Amino acid sequence: MRTQRVNVGKGYDVKIGKGLLTQCGGEVAGVLGPCSIAVVTDANVGGLYLERCLTSFEEAGIRATAFTFPAGEGAKTLSTLSDILEALASSGLTRADGVVALGGGVTGDMAGFAAGCYMRGVRFVQLPTTLLAAVDSSVGGKTAVDLRAGKNLAGLFHQPSLVLCDTDCLNTLPEAEYQCGLAEALKTGVLSGEGLFRLFEEGTARQYTEEIIAHCVEYKAGVVERDEKERGERKLLNLGHTVGHAIELCSGYTILHGLAVAAGLAVIARASARLGWSAPATALRIEGALKKSSLPITTNYSPSELSKAALSDKKREMNNITLAIPCEIGACALRTVGVGELEGIIAAGLPPLEGAR
Ligand code: NAD
Ligand code: GLY
Repeated sequence: MRTQRVNVGKGYDVKIGKGLLTQCGGEVAGVLGPCSIAVVTDANVGGLYLERCLTSFEEAGIRATAFTFPAGEGAKTLSTLSDILEALASSGLTRADGVVALGGGVTGDMAGFAAGCYMRGVRFVQLPTTLLAAVDSSVGGKTAVDLRAGKNLAGLFHQPSLVLCDTDCLNTLPEAEYQCGLAEALKTGVLSGEGLFRLFEEGTARQYTEEIIAHCVEYKAGVVERDEKERGERKLLNLGHTVGHAIELCSGYTILHGLAVAAGLAVIARASARLGWSAPATALRIEGALKKSSLPITTNYSPSELSKAALSDKKREMNNITLAIPCEIGACALRTVGVGELEGIIAAGLPPLEGAR
């Protein structure tokens, strides 16, 4: 088992390894002390892992209740949040108790939001079951639901007290969901440098899942420790997400988050190269690594559709939007552009590069 400390607020451990779910009761009791727990999960994950999780709490002498919602991004709404909050209240959860998010990023974002606002904030624990949640969303304390106007438009920062990533859970992950996690990890490779990125370029990433999770968590922990509330450096973690979120919104959330981010990453890499903000070789390498990982490198939505959708993005401030730009592998920068420029930037980034493998 590997442990990464995240020194934000009171600080918390991210534990990564096999079989952690069967030990979650003892692990949670060790951090939260005597308390009751409300487990929040979606229908798919609940069917696979809820019983194992509840058994572990029972064995640790912790009273645990459960709330299950329909799986998928379509359920990441104020309405589901309201149902979760009502369930917490009905279960008699007090300020001394805790919420456990058992699932992927949708579950983690919503359960974390509920924990952050229930009784003005109760503690919560993340049990990520997707690769995407393991490498990214379970760490750092961003929580949210989607609004009709766009992704994650209502939310708050609320750090977990513990993250337990049981890598055995990834064995049941559908292939497309595994790909989504690879896309967010590849994004971290572009940010963090050659070591991780080369695994994608060489097509060997799948052989190193646990190492990749540990690397991504270590990198993200550093960024979040320096800039918890996304005043500056943390905006780099949004690499590929401005166009990625726009693709998701345009598709009515039928295109999965990670796959949209992969295409968004390729678009911004090519746009940066064509607009002279980065060396063309960087875009070529990113496009090549995405292709090698069987990830999408473009989208059929038009620059006009995408820029309109992107204008509802949280990264917009007044008439500007800040984009994360991949200058080199391991060297990304923030660039603030006018919202009127966005359509042209996206247009520059849409056509794939000639010669990409
Ligand atoms: P998800 O939570 O919807 O999970 C994807 C699908 O996999 C669901 O159908 C789920 O039921 C199923 N699933 C989960 N674990 C499984 C398992 N072990 N076996 C079988 N099926 C399983 O989606 P996701 O890709 O994990 O997360 C995407 C969400 O995360 C988006 O809403 C995105 O905005 C958010 N996100 C948040 C952050 C953050 O920092 N908070 C970062 C990145 C993404
Ligand atoms: N996933 C981006 C962030 O946590 O900041």
